[in-house]
Parts: sequence; structure tokens; C-alpha cells
Amino acid sequence: MNRRPLGNTGIDIAPLVFGGNVFGWTIDEKTSFAVLDAFVDHGFNAIDTADVYSRWAEGNEGGESETIIGRWLKARPGVRDKVALFTKVGSDLGGKGQKGLGKDWIAQAVEGSLQRLQVEQIDLYFSHWPDPATSYKETLTAYKALLAQGKVKSIGASNLNAAQLEEALKVARQEQLPAYQVLQPEYNLYDRSSFDGPLRELCLKEDIGVVTYYSLASGFLSGKYRSRDDLKSSKRGTGVGKYLTPRGMAVLEALDDVAADQGAKPAEVALAWLMAREGVTAPIASATSVEQVKSFAKAAQLTLSHEQIARLTDAG
Ligand SMILES: NC(=O)c1ccc[n+]([C@@H]2O[C@H](COP(=O)([O-])OP(=O)(O)OC[C@H]3O[C@@H](n4cnc5c(N)ncnc54)[C@H](OP(=O)(O)O)[C@@H]3O)[C@@H](O)[C@H]2O)c1
Repeated sequence: MNRRPLGNTGIDIAPLVFGGNVFGWTIDEKTSFAVLDAFVDHGFNAIDTADVYSRWAEGNEGGESETIIGRWLKARPGVRDKVALFTKVGSDLGGKGQKGLGKDWIAQAVEGSLQRLQVEQIDLYFSHWPDPATSYKETLTAYKALLAQGKVKSIGASNLNAAQLEEALKVARQEQLPAYQVLQPEYNLYDRSSFDGPLRELCLKEDIGVVTYYSLASGFLSGKYRSRDDLKSSKRGTGVGKYLTPRGMAVLEALDDVAADQGAKPAEVALAWLMAREGVTAPIASATSVEQVKSFAKAAQLTLSHEQIARLTDAG
């Protein structure tokens, strides 16, 4: 499978990153292993998770996703060298001081992630959300230490707007600190406002790698939710309801048309649209079955025509 440079990280990734929030939430350990095996067998090589995944699921406390990935790596000798691991710090883990991007918490949180993942180095460490209570200088100083210690190979930020990323890059330059190399914004055919515009321009100008999340709009862009009734069967139902709008239906219609033209599924077309989008290095998407992973591989093989891309872009 072809590889794309992830900004200036030195990491080359296949055109789709696995989204690890499903591990310990919508799929158990056994299915997680099967899905991860299939992902690597298809030639993909990057996995995204966070220390907080999947804290929201009943009975969980956070860390379950990293733990499953760690057990999988342990059970598959040699596979660690084939995959790049992305994880995140900053979300609220529930304990005293266990949140945000302060230096003490970052130094502590990284140890937890390394331990759960059972690795010596995290390939890409993200600030999960902006932390208005902590200066960029403090956060980047903490990352400088982790980079020097080899605990992380590169750094990124998620959920920053253009002004925030610009400020973080400026502080890095002024203070001679490491700069964010990758951005992880929400972005898909339906939701484009968090990336299109000045943020994309900034990422292109600064050679920032971009991996998008909610790339399938939590499954909506597969076309399997077309009415309120369709939501009832899914654990994700409440999150998907917001897409059941006239614009959502127009997006599905365009996906159906292009999917029919291509002999592909709507989810595959939605991912191929992202893979072709200027400024996007790779979409992050999760899967709950080997069959869905097969669709990721199909998406990576699709070439959309200019007309098909325009039909999709204009529908949203
Ligand atoms: N940085 C952040 O703040 C942030 C926030 C959220 C997520 N993320 C990252 O982004 C990743 C992706 O987010 P997400 O999993 O919530 O959303 P997503 O990738 O938009 O949706 C994936 C879900 O859609 C369904 N699906 C996938 N392929 C399908 C297919 N071919 N046909 C039908 N259904 C299909 C599956 O769920 P079902 O089978 O259960 O329907 C799958 O779990 C996360 O795992 C995480 O790594 C980051």
C-alpha cells in the first residue's frame, strides 16, 4: 500500500489510520485483535488512541483502548516494528490533577500510556484538547523533555483552531521549543468547518501532517442510518442523530450516486474523498469488524474523478 509522509515527523503512513476508541467499547478484546490483524494484513500501519479511551463506556475508567493495543502487540511478536502508535494526553481521567497539559501531568501521563501500550516509545503524542489554564511554553517544554528521553518520537495537537495553532507554532519558534508536527481535527464530508479555511492553509504552509477524526461521521456516512428508527440498534445512535438533516440526506444521495458509479460502498467513497482532500494526510476511522476493515482497503484503492469529487464536495 502506498505511504504518505506525515508532515515532518519522518513517519510514513498508509492513507488511513485506525481509530482506537472502539477497543473496550463497541468491540471486546477478541474482536479488537481480529480487526487489528486484518488492518495490518491489508498493509495499513498507523493506530490512533488516547489515554482516556474508552472511559465513557459503562464499567470503564479510561486506558482500556491502550491496554488492548498493548496486549495485541505483545501477542504478535514483530508487529510493533510495523505500526506507528499515536496516543493523546489532556482529557480528564477523573483523578486529582489527571487532566490538562501541565508539565507534571504530562510527565506522569506518558508513563501510564507507555506502560499500557507495553512499548518504549510513542510514535506520535497528541495534546488532546486545548488547555487554556496552561501556557504553550509549559506544554512544549514538557514535550521537549519527552522527545529528548526518547519516550515520544513526534508531537501533535488535536482540536486547535487556526489562531491557537498559529500561537503554539510562534511560541515554539520564539522559545526554541519543539513545534507541533501533526494536527488532528474533526473533519468529514458533512462537518468541514473545523478544518477548511485558515487552518488548512496554515497546515499546508507549515508542512503540518493532518489526520482527521470522525472521518465517517461516526458511521453516518456509511449510509446505514437514514431514519430515527435506524439509530435504535446502535450504541452510537445518540451521536449520529444530529446528521439526520436535509443536508445529511443530500450528502448520502451524492455518496450513493458515486458509490454506484464506482461499484463501491458509500463509506469507501466518503473515505476516498478525504484521502483526496488537499491538506489531509490520512483519515482516522474505526471499525468493528474485519469486513469494515476490508472497506478501508477498498477506499485506499479508489480513484475518484474530478466530477465525482465535485459532486460530493458540492453536496455538503
Ligand atoms: N481527537 C479527538 O478529539 C477525537 C475525537 C473522536 C474520535 N477521535 C479518533 O477518531 C477515531 C474515529 O472516530 P469514531 O470511531 O468515533 O468515528 P468514525 O471513524 O467516523 O466512525 C467509525 C464507526 O463507523 C462504523 N463503520 C466503519 N466502517 C463502516 C462500514 N464500512 N460500514 C458501516 N459502518 C461502518 C463503525 O461503527 P459501528 O459498526 O458500531 O456502526 C465504526 O466504529 C476514533 O477512534 C479516535 O481514534 C479523536
